[in-house]
Amino acid sequence: MKQTWGTRAAARFGSPLAKGPMQAHLEENHSAPVHGGLNARELESLGLHPEEVLDFSASINPLGAPREVREALRSLPPDAYPDRSCLKLRRALGSHLGIEPHSILAGNGSTELIHLIARAFLSPGDSAVIFAPTFGEYAAACRLAGASPVFLQSREEAEFRWDLAHASKLISGLRPSLVFVCNPNNPTGIYLGEDEVRQIADSLGGGGLLVLDEAYRSFVDKRWRSQGLIRMGNVVLLRSMTKDYGIAGLRLGYLLAAEGVVARVGKFQYSWSVNAAAQAAGLVAIDHPRHVERGRRLVGASKDFLTSALGRMGLDCPPSAANFLLIRVGEAARLRRELLTRFRVCVRDCASFGLPEHIRIGVRSVEDSRRLVLALKASTAIRNHHE
Ligand SMILES: Cc1ncc(COP(=O)(O)O)c(C=O)c1O
Repeated sequence: MKQTWGTRAAARFGSPLAKGPMQAHLEENHSAPVHGGLNARELESLGLHPEEVLDFSASINPLGAPREVREALRSLPPDAYPDRSCLKLRRALGSHLGIEPHSILAGNGSTELIHLIARAFLSPGDSAVIFAPTFGEYAAACRLAGASPVFLQSREEAEFRWDLAHASKLISGLRPSLVFVCNPNNPTGIYLGEDEVRQIADSLGGGGLLVLDEAYRSFVDKRWRSQGLIRMGNVVLLRSMTKDYGIAGLRLGYLLAAEGVVARVGKFQYSWSVNAAAQAAGLVAIDHPRHVERGRRLVGASKDFLTSALGRMGLDCPPSAANFLLIRVGEAARLRRELLTRFRVCVRDCASFGLPEHIRIGVRSVEDSRRLVLALKASTAIRNHHE
């Protein structure tokens, strides 16, 4: 039989129709993580334009990008390669945070860094513990590196708080290569204190690495200073400038870790992965910390408004330390669809987190939140949930 690319690829990588373990492996790798944010194909199929949809499904600074960042981008020369080592950006971050540049690695969004860490620290057959429900990219990165994610699930009856005694025991018994904790956690908004995080790092016993994803840290009112944790040697902190400064389209994040960890992860990064626009925007953004503070205050006011408005509607909206709220609504997928098609409002259906009765709302301005509340009040899906 003449071999086509398809049959050659099937012989080499295994056919998707083949029986046996390879099938499961392929299917696992094909299940891409689900994210918030507008879906261009879905909007097109509904005849909607992104500009007419109010997006509550992504959770970034509700102020968007600072004016100074927009101005810097307008005068950016596009013809030179970016600095592969992001030196200026790392130096600026270093002096802003009081950390040596060799302890900082910039990435094409913190998502890139999650995948680089997995490739650098996981081998096929390894296990990685993930505090769940949480951001889907950790499990995807572990699977792509050939490792098996072990999920440590929190339960709604325990207000989504993890049983840390159980977690420590599991980690010290399993000795995973990586542990992922999102703090504050997406989508539950649970924020662990310093002692709790140190307890998790200690339970690794020096054998593995704790990845503490602080993508939403800037929106926490009472946050603790976590960067001292990198002196433990087995802790990596992940930060997202995408979210802090509303520059999701540019993609920019960084990690903070011991010098050896940074060097090992950096080896897996391809050249020029952080583009010139992201580096330029990051450099300007660092000089505007008040933009993040203003975003946090705005989030606080909107969260207060939403919590009491939703409470009056009988919707359960537990406290969240982050810039999003998790709300039990009944049939979340149906509600999401109704809000999008009838009211042009997009929320995150949490089925992919294993929470098909919840939606997540990325907090926007009070004015936008009013529109969301009106849409929720008018929706038939919510009415049916209460009947
Ligand atoms: C917990 C968490 N970490 C990281 C990211 C990725 O952010 P970035 O835009 O920096 O890649 C997200 C995005 O939704 C997230 O929810």
